[in-house]
Amino acid sequence: MLGKKILSSATTEETEQIGRALAEELLQSGKKSAFIALYGDLGVGKTAFTRGFVSAICPAARVKSPTYTVVNEYRGGILPVFHFDMYRIDGEDDLYSTGFYDYLDSGYLLSEWSENIPFALPKERIAVTIEKSGVDTRRITLEAFE
Ligand SMILES: Nc1ncnc2c1ncn2[C@@H]1O[C@H](COP(=O)(O)OP(=O)(O)O)[C@@H](O)[C@H]1O
Ligand SMILES: [Mg+2]
Repeated sequence: MLGKKILSSATTEETEQIGRALAEELLQSGKKSAFIALYGDLGVGKTAFTRGFVSAICPAARVKSPTYTVVNEYRGGILPVFHFDMYRIDGEDDLYSTGFYDYLDSGYLLSEWSENIPFALPKERIAVTIEKSGVDTRRITLEAFE
């Protein structure tokens, strides 16, 4: 993915579809690893986006929020997908203790609450910011950094 895109979503399924489309684009580009930094408040749709993303790579997976486990791994698909939730991460040592650095570059990694890990973001990444624009509508900004 190059540059910046601003999309809108009116339903949960549309947000999932935007996640699925990003995964398909990454697969088609031949990338074996990628870092997707998710931003946005509680309940905005970060996990919904991730569910759609994972469905393109590992259709059998049941995506659930990794809030308590910090990371969920989906390995049965085309590539490994690692789904982190950084909500409870407090600083570099805490992040290190999750094994985060061992997961980088070994598949597609999605990170909810990337606000909490600015010090650990790879230079090459895709930032996905989800904002509420109404009860069920969302503004989704995708931006590639290299
Ligand atoms: N357009 C939309 N996109 C994403 N989620 C939506 C949308 N409209 C309503 N929702 C609802 O908002 C909630 C988002 O939850 P979730 O994906 O777990 O958010 P987060 O991971 O950001 O905390 C779900 O209950 C979902 O059904
Ligand atoms: Mg979530």
